[in-house]
Amino acid sequence: MKSRQSWAELYAFEVDRAADAPVFRQIYQQLRLAILSGTIRPGTNLPSTRELAVRIGVSRSAAVAAFEQLLAEGYASGKTGAGTFVASDLPEPFAAVHGRKKQSTSSAKTATSSREPGGFGDVTSQSEERPFNLGRTLVDARTAELWRKLSARSLRSFGCHHLGYADPHGMLELRKSVSAYLQAARAVRCDAEQVVITAGTQQALDIVIRVMQGPDKEVWIEDPGYSLTCLALVAAGAKVCPVPVDQHGINVTQGIRCAPRARAVFITPSHQFPKGVVLSMARRLELLAWARESGAWIVEDDYASEFRYGGRPLASLQGLDDGERVIYIGTLNKALFPGLRLGYAVVPASLVRAFVTARHLMDRQPSSLCQTVVAAFMEEGHFASHIRRMRAVYRNQRDALIAALRHRLSDHLTVDPPDQGMHLVAYTRRGLSDVTVERAAREHGVIVRAMSRLYVEAPVRSALMLGFSGYPRQIIAPAIARLAQVF
Ligand SMILES: Cc1ncc(COP(=O)(O)O)c(C=O)c1O
Repeated sequence: MKSRQSWAELYAFEVDRAADAPVFRQIYQQLRLAILSGTIRPGTNLPSTRELAVRIGVSRSAAVAAFEQLLAEGYASGKTGAGTFVASDLPEPFAAVHGRKKQSTSSAKTATSSREPGGFGDVTSQSEERPFNLGRTLVDARTAELWRKLSARSLRSFGCHHLGYADPHGMLELRKSVSAYLQAARAVRCDAEQVVITAGTQQALDIVIRVMQGPDKEVWIEDPGYSLTCLALVAAGAKVCPVPVDQHGINVTQGIRCAPRARAVFITPSHQFPKGVVLSMARRLELLAWARESGAWIVEDDYASEFRYGGRPLASLQGLDDGERVIYIGTLNKALFPGLRLGYAVVPASLVRAFVTARHLMDRQPSSLCQTVVAAFMEEGHFASHIRRMRAVYRNQRDALIAALRHRLSDHLTVDPPDQGMHLVAYTRRGLSDVTVERAAREHGVIVRAMSRLYVEAPVRSALMLGFSGYPRQIIAPAIARLAQVF
């Protein structure tokens, strides 16, 4: 059933003629945000362009151009004689990212968040198993067998250190292994004291947010960026300032212009999520200088650096930091498997206590049994060989996916082959909407994520994100054949 109940919300929308963005784009962005946030519900009959133009005092052509953009991107659908409707199958994991932002068209781009519960969208979509979902990993027979053996060994020595409350900081043996690994592989400057074991990136982000203390803190996020970072910040009442990402990574100058006194910046410098670009050295230095001068924290999410397939290895940003401004976050949930729920943060000495206390207040400590198994896995050299083997497997799967996409879909998609990571980005051609493809692909049993959903304010680029790490070579070609039917 079509509904018009939420259309009244649009009366609050504004157009700023002094803003850089053209009027049609402002209307489009506001409608898109309202749709993604659920303010205007799926199936809602939008007003005619004439009606809208009169309501908000713009030319009819601006309203038409805004609607055309929404139609092209699949946010709306048009029916001759029946008007334009908000697409009825839009609830998506990333919707809430946009939805938490206050609508803004003025030159001040800092988004204000709301703290009411709900409206988080479907954040469970990563549990979807079909190809080519993001963030999935494979574990080969060797690792599986070792895991069984090490778990059995840990259980055999099941003693008081497994049974009771333990150090919320994390098990010392594991912290030592993580510290040695990060120094060698990522040029991170740290000792075991600075390493805090977490349940993964998501918990580390949550702890950072708590340690920053209090709502209404301004923070920069990448635009486009990782939706779960943005959601966690917004849920905590932070004021999120989306900073555009170009081919050199986050645009630091624009960040400073947008929120010079921001408390923190959340970034993925080694392999920007989702675009896959690397933060240039010039930008790294600019960012560090700003953080030093302003006292801001840089939160470095180094989520997939284990899987680098070519080019020079890239050191962490934390390793360049003389001023103790970087909080480095890594995860074992990607290097091993997401169900593990273990990761770590490397924290400047001045923050360790606050960090450990926050962790303790959240859920006391990591599971002792899991930590014992992982510590042995690392200590005995299995982690390094697991990474080496899986790197080869994922490279192979990446190549198979690129070949299949180029073979079947080169008329519709331009593939950007990644040097690193677990997903690739394929830009749509000829104005094809990634949202439309995403939706149709799902009906053919294929999961592709529309990158446009990860944008907040920066001009959207239509592209599909395809995860390759979780899918053996033999299922890649048939899945791409199914995807090809969509086009
Ligand atoms: C940008 C980014 N960081 C971190 C992670 C890993 O998160 P976690 O350790 O909470 O599983 C992901 C997983 O999808 C990611 O995309």
